[in-house]
Amino acid sequence: MGDRPPLTPPTSPSFWRSPLRGPWLTAVLGAVLLAGITLLSVTGLLSYAAYNPDLAGGVNDKTPGKGLLGFYLFSWPTGPHWLYRLTQGLHVTLGITLVPVLLAKLWSVIPKLFTLPPARSVGHALERMSLLLLVGGVLFEFVTGLLNIQLEYVFPGSFYPLHFYGAWVFIGAFAVHVVLRLPRAVRALRERRDPPAAADDTGLVAALPDRPTVTRRGALGLVGAGALVLFATSAGQSIGGWWRRTALLAPHGGRDPGSGPNAFQINKTAAALGVRARDTGDDWRLTVEGGGRRVRLSRAGLLTLPQHEAALPIACVEGWSTDDQQWGGVRLRDLAALVGLGAHAPGVLVESLQPHGAFRRAALRDNQVRDPRSLLALRVGGAELSLDHGYPARIIVPAAPGVLNTKWVSRLTFGEEW
Ligand code: HEM
Repeated sequence: MGDRPPLTPPTSPSFWRSPLRGPWLTAVLGAVLLAGITLLSVTGLLSYAAYNPDLAGGVNDKTPGKGLLGFYLFSWPTGPHWLYRLTQGLHVTLGITLVPVLLAKLWSVIPKLFTLPPARSVGHALERMSLLLLVGGVLFEFVTGLLNIQLEYVFPGSFYPLHFYGAWVFIGAFAVHVVLRLPRAVRALRERRDPPAAADDTGLVAALPDRPTVTRRGALGLVGAGALVLFATSAGQSIGGWWRRTALLAPHGGRDPGSGPNAFQINKTAAALGVRARDTGDDWRLTVEGGGRRVRLSRAGLLTLPQHEAALPIACVEGWSTDDQQWGGVRLRDLAALVGLGAHAPGVLVESLQPHGAFRRAALRDNQVRDPRSLLALRVGGAELSLDHGYPARIIVPAAPGVLNTKWVSRLTFGEEW
């Protein structure tokens, strides 16, 4: 142990003195991130697929320039009905929980970000550029994701393209990093002990180590405890039931929605989206179009059609979800039958009364229309829908992201092309 000379710059190896840094700590944190970020990436890409952005007409597509990045898209299924609750709950909860692990990983390798010369060869320069994309990409994804779930839409432009394209940059850089570093990480985990600074090929072991104030395991324990606290104060918004009240960090999920059949979470109120009570009164009509035919129905007219029930949740892209609610209303496929398209009901374009909002028009695929649980809901929990839940009529589809469950529906256009 020695004293650091005064005015040592961070580019000097003797500036970084924590005796905890070394390949073992970095490898342990890396192993946790490898599992966590892989799951985060898979659930994130699934969330993108859940919007059906490849549907004809592109109404659901907030990233029309995606090109080959949409290569893997598939028809999002309607079962199990809690599918999006699970995938998006995992995505958001995991993103929050991994924050301490990510910060600890960055702390563990910070001396390497200051090493000089910045590039020793072309290969080394390329590798360092990939690190820029890795660190920049991960910070960008975490910051935009966390801001979005806290309803702080401060970033320029829409969240969807930013988080989507950012994710692909990050995933590419992450894959390169794992391929390059996995052998070293495996060796460090096997050896368990860090080599002395002189023999350390990672450059992470301090040349002039300071006195330890905590053991490596103690430091990992602190990181784990931080992750656990974040998990315990956010997961309840997706788990639901009694656990909802533990979601102290969730702006929607943990809030008590009051009592009564309409007492469950709402993302945007009617007032926030400019829906006025007079637009939803007795003069409201639903237009159903398709196959060259058009039908207009009042709410009383809808109530004369066969009524069905379905127990389905609302699951938001921001991670919160409700428990199953008992919806009542008319099957979407029965509405397709009104315009002669019942036998093999096609997809539908749904339009809302709401004058603004990114999803005031949304498309559903044929498998979603045909599912007997997909309803134009008129009631919930045996009561009329409240205005904030979409009165006079709203869509409810199993396993679909919340925003595709359009509220205040005014028009349904059945057909594959719009
Ligand atoms: C978001 C995730 C991650 C970020 C932001 C990140 C960031 C970094 C950075 C900036 C370095 C220093 C690189 C250098 O200049 O050499 C590094 C080194 C390292 N990383 Fe990661 N990392 C991540 C995930 C992982 C994973 C999943 C593993 C496990 C396979 C891993 C294992 C390592 C190892 C063993 C080193 C030290 C190797 C050496 O320098 O020889 N990292 N990481």
